[in-house]
Amino acid sequence: MNYAETIKEIVTRISPSPTVYVHSFGCRLNVSDGNSLLGKILDMGFAETEDVNSASLIIINTCAVRENAEKKVYGVIGELKHVKEKNPDVIIAVCGCMTQEKHVAEFIKNTYRHVDFCFGTFAYKKFPELLYNALTKNEFQCDNNEYPNDFSDFNLYQKSVIKADVPIMYGCDNYCSYCIVPYVRGRERSREVSDILSDIRTLTDNGFKEILLLGQNVNSYGNTLKPPVPFSELLKQAAEIPGDFKIRFMSPHPKDMRKDLIDIIAEYPKLCKSIHLPLQSGSNRILELMNRQYTAETYMEIVKYIRKKMPRCTISTDIIVGFPGETEYDFEETLRIIKEAHFYNIFSFIYSKRTGTKAADLPDYATAVEKTSRMTRMLTLQREIATETYAEYVEKTLTVLFDGSSKTEGLIAGKSDEGIIVEAPGTFDKIGEYRKVRITKSHNWALEGVILNF
Ligand code: SAH
Ligand code: SF4
Ligand code: F3S
Repeated sequence: MNYAETIKEIVTRISPSPTVYVHSFGCRLNVSDGNSLLGKILDMGFAETEDVNSASLIIINTCAVRENAEKKVYGVIGELKHVKEKNPDVIIAVCGCMTQEKHVAEFIKNTYRHVDFCFGTFAYKKFPELLYNALTKNEFQCDNNEYPNDFSDFNLYQKSVIKADVPIMYGCDNYCSYCIVPYVRGRERSREVSDILSDIRTLTDNGFKEILLLGQNVNSYGNTLKPPVPFSELLKQAAEIPGDFKIRFMSPHPKDMRKDLIDIIAEYPKLCKSIHLPLQSGSNRILELMNRQYTAETYMEIVKYIRKKMPRCTISTDIIVGFPGETEYDFEETLRIIKEAHFYNIFSFIYSKRTGTKAADLPDYATAVEKTSRMTRMLTLQREIATETYAEYVEKTLTVLFDGSSKTEGLIAGKSDEGIIVEAPGTFDKIGEYRKVRITKSHNWALEGVILNF
């Protein structure tokens, strides 16, 4: 049966102008999944709405990475009860990483009776069938089976008209001991080079100026292809596509950050000089317990090689504070590496126990107060480093892609090639093109400047 066509017929009978509301939590890959699904639903004849109360179809795409992420999701799903009371015809679906977990899907089924169906991270292809069933039968459904992924139903729909996300690989085989991702996203698998390059061509032919290549472990791309293709080769071929655009990628894993990859980034101007390289901890004992497969020393060797090859390349990182068994000494090792590496930005998280992961069984002695205090100390240190780093850009000229308005009236905002937020006085006609900006002022999170007219 052609579900998409039949759904179009059914929904237009219920409402002459059906609308869909999609909200994605979590990482960029999850947001990209949400947009791909949204693209498919728009093709079925729905229009997108930002108003959850008037939507004919609501989709909540979930993240399971930390407990507070899950809490937020439950809060939103709970609120939807009132929406369903006011509009009993609305169809509510919950998908993504949380619903891939059998016990979570079961909990949602039993607790939130207003949810019509759930599906996991492998079942996007089944969406039309699930929606058809929801429209024609009145019973809860859940599909969180692990289907083989052939990527054939991937939809390139993007929310922005300037920046585009292109997933290049899914899943993760690393099993960092704290992380739920391998359990909810499955084994690592890569899209074909030709499909990725064709997506980039389509997007850049349509005026997109920045392409973000996405994967849970982006630099182990290509291991599952026959024959295998290194990530550096994919990047090289992508950077050789003609046109006025740039390429970013996230997130690479330090264990796969080989020199040839750094050399390629240095060689091609299309590859942005900004690398997000998750450190997680500066203590070798903790890194081992985390199963990260590198040491603080090998991490610093990579940082030094990046700086040698590309002096202006910025590096950002992820840090977990309060991993089970982290002592004051371990934490100080992390502070030491933070000082040495001079990150321009740190995304920091307090460890959150994830049922089913190895670290969930490790003894944890530090108290919540100690962990919060470590976090505060780390953020204070990073603010000092960022203040220094950002101040060095004053009076320099950066290339910036403006893509929206700033929170301050009269300013537009964008990111420099180095990944730094830059704001400048300007109007929307300056948006969507690369602009030279003379930096006049620095904060510890962004720069301000004036757009140069050449
Ligand atoms: N694949 C990416 C990260 C995905 S999760 C990578 O390896 O870089 C994003 C970040 O969330 C991780 O880098 C880590 O810092 C954090 N994180 C993952 N699991 C966590 C947990 N259980 N508690 C706290 N932070 C966690
Ligand atoms: Fe999680 Fe580690 Fe895989 Fe990143 S590399 S998704 S932190 S298991
Ligand atoms: Fe969250 Fe799933 Fe991404 S758990 S971080 S949305 S892969």
